[in-house]
Amino acid sequence: MSPWVRSASILARTIPSVASSIEIPTPDDWHVHLRDGPMLEAVVGYSARRFRHSMVMPNLVPPITDASAAVAYRNRILAAVPPSEHRELDPFTPWIVWYCSPAIDADELVTSHESGEAAAVKYYPAGATTNSDGGGTSLASFMTLFERMAEARIRLLVHAESTDPTIDIFDREEAFLTEELAPLCAAIPELGVTVEHVSTAAGVDFVAEHPQCAATVTPHHLARDRSDLLASGMKPDLYCKPVINSAADRERLVATVISGDPAFCLGTDSAPHPTTAKYGPTAKAGVFNAAYGLEVVADVFDRHDALAELANFVSRNGCAIYGVDPPEGTVELERASIDLERATHLTTSAGDEVVLFGDAEATRWRIRTPG
Ligand code: NCD
Ligand code: ZN
Repeated sequence: MSPWVRSASILARTIPSVASSIEIPTPDDWHVHLRDGPMLEAVVGYSARRFRHSMVMPNLVPPITDASAAVAYRNRILAAVPPSEHRELDPFTPWIVWYCSPAIDADELVTSHESGEAAAVKYYPAGATTNSDGGGTSLASFMTLFERMAEARIRLLVHAESTDPTIDIFDREEAFLTEELAPLCAAIPELGVTVEHVSTAAGVDFVAEHPQCAATVTPHHLARDRSDLLASGMKPDLYCKPVINSAADRERLVATVISGDPAFCLGTDSAPHPTTAKYGPTAKAGVFNAAYGLEVVADVFDRHDALAELANFVSRNGCAIYGVDPPEGTVELERASIDLERATHLTTSAGDEVVLFGDAEATRWRIRTPG
């Protein structure tokens, strides 16, 4: 067996005796980092194979803050999709998000949104995560822009994580929501907000209490907790922002998504980094899960006897939140009766290696997509 392939047979488990499969409407990924150059070329096919809409994050260097950069980036993404991943029904559609910055011209944003180009605006607290140096020091400093966005019905996507060094890292989502997002929601109740990659019970409560808010949830926040990250050898491959939190938080996230709550949809937050940036004295934040994220989510739902709710979370809720038509096609998820062999790494044309999250879960699921 290749060193880059793992079979789940090394993980003690019982294979379910009943093989089964479910068909779900073509899913969407409402939060993904596709990067650029050789990394984009290496990763985009995974997203294009499984997902219809991909809400593509703008934290490139330099970030996307105007229409020409956004259009050029979307064209580079489409050009990088391998011909084998082109679909007739529900074709892969990248939506380019603008990076919330003083560099944004509000008139240009509104015009670009009206023409169907600018999908949304993403707020990063400066210093909170990868490529957030150009982010904001407070939501309050963008009130004029947010008022224009509310009028034009442009959604604000928020990385909800305080950068206050006196606040414990595991409490920073709640701190940001209480101190920054709650006042903004009160000031502009017409502004549609997505709390990205919600990671805590406090985040779930916040969304429930604020009808203008929806949230994305990642595969890794549903399937892992901080003991997985830290308890038996620190795992840089699980390090992301917001940091994977407690088991109780994970259980609350799972209970929420399997309930079918329409305010929550899948956003993988797939964020590839080369192993050279992951392994060392410090690790870059980000989990690359575009390859197996759907399998990981299916596995979580399956373990909770909730496969019937999977389509709401991955295929329907996001369409309603973002006001797009439901998909026409379907993908099939088949429970594997034997362990499948799964790659554990990819290598870009520049020679960078990236670890694929979820290969263990993916040995249990086969995804069939229409050609
Ligand atoms: C993302 C990245 O690498 O771009 N990293 C992450 O840990 N999620 C940025 C982000 O969404 O925070
Ligand atoms: Zn992200």
